[in-house]
Amino acid sequence: MNGDRHDVLFAGSHPLPSDYRAYRHWVHARLVQILRQNPGCRFLEIGVGPTFRQERFRVIDELGIHYVGLDFEHICAERRADLVRAGISDRNIRFLGNESETYLFNLIKSARNWKTFDIIYLDGSHSIYVDLAAAIAAVRLLKPGALFLFDDVRFCFGRTSDPDHR
Ligand SMILES: C[S@@+](CC[C@H](N)C(=O)[O-])C[C@H]1O[C@@H](n2cnc3c(N)ncnc32)[C@H](O)[C@@H]1O
Repeated sequence: MNGDRHDVLFAGSHPLPSDYRAYRHWVHARLVQILRQNPGCRFLEIGVGPTFRQERFRVIDELGIHYVGLDFEHICAERRADLVRAGISDRNIRFLGNESETYLFNLIKSARNWKTFDIIYLDGSHSIYVDLAAAIAAVRLLKPGALFLFDDVRFCFGRTSDPDHR
């Protein structure tokens, strides 16, 4: 590894976006653009989220993309209900929920079942304790030449008053 290079995963000085709402909007639009470029792909989203991304799921449905989303089970149940309400009944869209702890075990189970993906999007806990392990497990699920997208990679260690440990 080149020690002179700025490492966005581990450098505490990596800047946060100044306008977070605009940043999230841009991320969402960019992801939809990437999905449009990959019809029929296998897409894993680690962290489905509390917001129903209807436009994204319509694209997934229209383009025959195989989607697996990981989150807490209650979030997965909400998104399943949103899909039904939106009239999207795509059997290629699946949510795997964990009741507690983290999605790590569902990632491991996927690896044990030889599941692989063309695009993996890690946008979950954003805590290093959860997502560093998830990232390592997810590497096993990448097809050759796959895209591994990280949202907001400035991992946080939780609140602290010591600036050297942020
Ligand atoms: C930022 S949101 C995901 C946003 C979504 N990717 C999007 O584009 O709208 C992060 C999600 O990760 C989930 N998450 C965080 N920690 C988790 C854990 N330990 N186990 C399962 N899900 C977790 C949260 O419940 C939340 O829904």
